[in-house]
Amino acid sequence: MTSKFIKRSWAEPYKIKMVELLNITTKADRMRAIKQAGFNTFLLKSRDVYIDLLTDSGTSAMSDRQWSGMMLGDEAYAGSENFYHLEEAVRKNYGYKYVIPTHQGRGAENILSKILIKPGDIIPGNMYFTTTRLHQELAGGTFADVIIKKAHDPDDEFPFKGNIDIQKLENLIKKTGSKKIPYISVATAVNMAGGQPISMSNLRELRKMTDKYGIKIIHDMTRVAENAYFIKRKEKGFSKKKIVDIVKEICSYTDGATMSAKKDALVNIGGFLAINDKKIYEEARNLVVVYEGLHTYGGLAGRDMEAIAIGITESVDEDHIRARIGQVEYLGNKMRDFGIPIVLPIGGHGVFLNAKKFLPHIKQTNYPAQTLAAEIYIDSGVRSMERGNVSSGRNPETGKEYLPDLELVRLTIPRRVYTQAHMDVVAESVESVYSNRKKIKGLKMIYEPKYLRFFQAKFKKL
Ligand code: F0G
Repeated sequence: MTSKFIKRSWAEPYKIKMVELLNITTKADRMRAIKQAGFNTFLLKSRDVYIDLLTDSGTSAMSDRQWSGMMLGDEAYAGSENFYHLEEAVRKNYGYKYVIPTHQGRGAENILSKILIKPGDIIPGNMYFTTTRLHQELAGGTFADVIIKKAHDPDDEFPFKGNIDIQKLENLIKKTGSKKIPYISVATAVNMAGGQPISMSNLRELRKMTDKYGIKIIHDMTRVAENAYFIKRKEKGFSKKKIVDIVKEICSYTDGATMSAKKDALVNIGGFLAINDKKIYEEARNLVVVYEGLHTYGGLAGRDMEAIAIGITESVDEDHIRARIGQVEYLGNKMRDFGIPIVLPIGGHGVFLNAKKFLPHIKQTNYPAQTLAAEIYIDSGVRSMERGNVSSGRNPETGKEYLPDLELVRLTIPRRVYTQAHMDVVAESVESVYSNRKKIKGLKMIYEPKYLRFFQAKFKKL
């Protein structure tokens, strides 16, 4: 065989300098812990968890450069040097003009929603995200889902399931009138769809159409680098382009963005609001003082802003993003080999189990995904998260559960934290639960919080 035919593997583009020891528990320990947590993985103590795939949010391993940046924190109340580094990193890598730091993504969502949304407004978007939709609703708006239909089908292998159904959106604009639509909310690497990307051609088309009606586009850019990687790999004409240029082109079709830097940007805390319109920026500068802090720190320490500035640059590195997605795909492909039903194509930040297919005998009102997350934890101490009926919540008008098409368990991979061997352990645990799936019984909710119920709800086994 010539070398042309030998598969070349990716490997982590870093080596490990410090390690954090893990706790390994017994099955009896885990049964006790999950019962105490009301069968909600959010309520488990971290010390009771072995491999933590609850979220990729704030769980990244920072680089030595980021840690040394933390030592250069300028903790001045006003005009911290680190703020200007952050501003420069956003302008250089994303191209947005004005930047307002916030304590995390939802801080930016709050300010943006308060400024742009009036009671009675409609905010179309490519699938909801929990905190984003809630801030829209608290500002008096209503979210309207305009993602393509395929996004709601876990088995459809269309490569850009984050795309917007342009025709559906235009019909909505015509029906409600553009005055009632303050902006279109566009997420890259759509979280709730399974980390599915939006294509550049869809974004271009969207920009053209919204320009006709004078409607803004606000970008939830939490996982924009992951989206850019899929464009590079799967969309015609991008294979030779640099990730950083693809990221910048994506941003160029939008008018502003909210960012949870806890994901792509490789930090443990932080976010920002970025906007090109000076008037909106000025209003946001006023509001940030009320909810977050002065406009040059927005709820963050100087050192946090420095870590974000460095993290943004690392996030668009070619080798980083290839290894990042490579690891997620490695886990996903193992699941596929075992015949476990997952959302396809494999997304950017995790592997999503299709709980409706995994546990077809459990009714959606008995929370199959919540049940499955608890069972995987009991089997191995691997912590995952429900993204189905519990996360989706209730319609505020009717009080009825939304009962979403997607009833999923998310195995979210933190960036630069776990090894391929950890992925093997995870896949084998899910396989073991899958083999015993017929014996698994559903759950009944016994405590339901008013907002974002998935974080704190409690359940009982049927
Ligand atoms: N937008 C998206 C797409 C998100 O995934 C998140 C957070 C936010 C906004 C809110 O940002 O947490 O910094 O306030 N997602 C986390 C997750 C919580 O686990 O998916 P935040």
